[in-house]
Amino acid sequence: MTFVRSPRVTVFPDSRRAAVVVAARLANAVQSNPALVLGLATGRTPVALYEELARATAARRLDWSRVTTFNLDEFLGLPPEHPASYRQFMEQHLFRHVNIRAENVNFLVGTADPAEECRRYEQAIAAAGGIDIQILGIGTNGHIGFNEPGPALQSRTHRVSLRPETRRSNAELFAGDADKVPAEALSMGMATILQARSVILLANGESKAECIERTVHGPLTTQLPASFLQLHHDVDVILDEAAAARLQPLSALP
Ligand code: F6R
Repeated sequence: MTFVRSPRVTVFPDSRRAAVVVAARLANAVQSNPALVLGLATGRTPVALYEELARATAARRLDWSRVTTFNLDEFLGLPPEHPASYRQFMEQHLFRHVNIRAENVNFLVGTADPAEECRRYEQAIAAAGGIDIQILGIGTNGHIGFNEPGPALQSRTHRVSLRPETRRSNAELFAGDADKVPAEALSMGMATILQARSVILLANGESKAECIERTVHGPLTTQLPASFLQLHHDVDVILDEAAAARLQPLSALP
């Protein structure tokens, strides 16, 4: 019997090398399936990935005209054209560098009626045939998307209150002022994320070492939403050495 361990953990000497390898995997996926449906994350972690993906796209003349994307989350109350919105982040780091069609870019709209918008997003993901590859970052508190730790998790796209540490880590987008970061957001839910056919979680740096250790080795707990990735059969956890510092070697595991 073959025992497949998921999440599969791969450690790179640094985050740039990790980004090059993941970008090559995504570029190959676009090439072999031009109608790929990609789930995307924002934040500091995937910036190098998007740079490398833009580079690979130019070098290989990749065609994104049939690719569809769904981003994980957006701040509540921000219109798509707001400079601190995740929508604008994606424009700057990826969309303007590839020939994706505007109508194939899917985003939660922060100014829409929240309940209606969450329903619309779930329907749009289903109508697209589901997400083929979902890119994730991870918060130091173990959140994925904006599924924050707490006594319970939400399965579907929903409105969420952001934890103080999450607002602080997004302060950079708002001139360094955590108080200006919206207190709420819309986010894909846990089941929405876990229904992606494959998942690639990226994490870099010492500040992520503890949540990565708990994601990979810890018990499933709503206090660390990323731990639920252990239930998915096709998850890659891609780390630099600092983020992997607390992992036990595979040979030491039962
Ligand atoms: C962003 C998102 C968040 C981030 C996480 C890590 O769309 O869903 O879960 O991935 O907060 O952020 P960074 O990469 O800035 O450490």
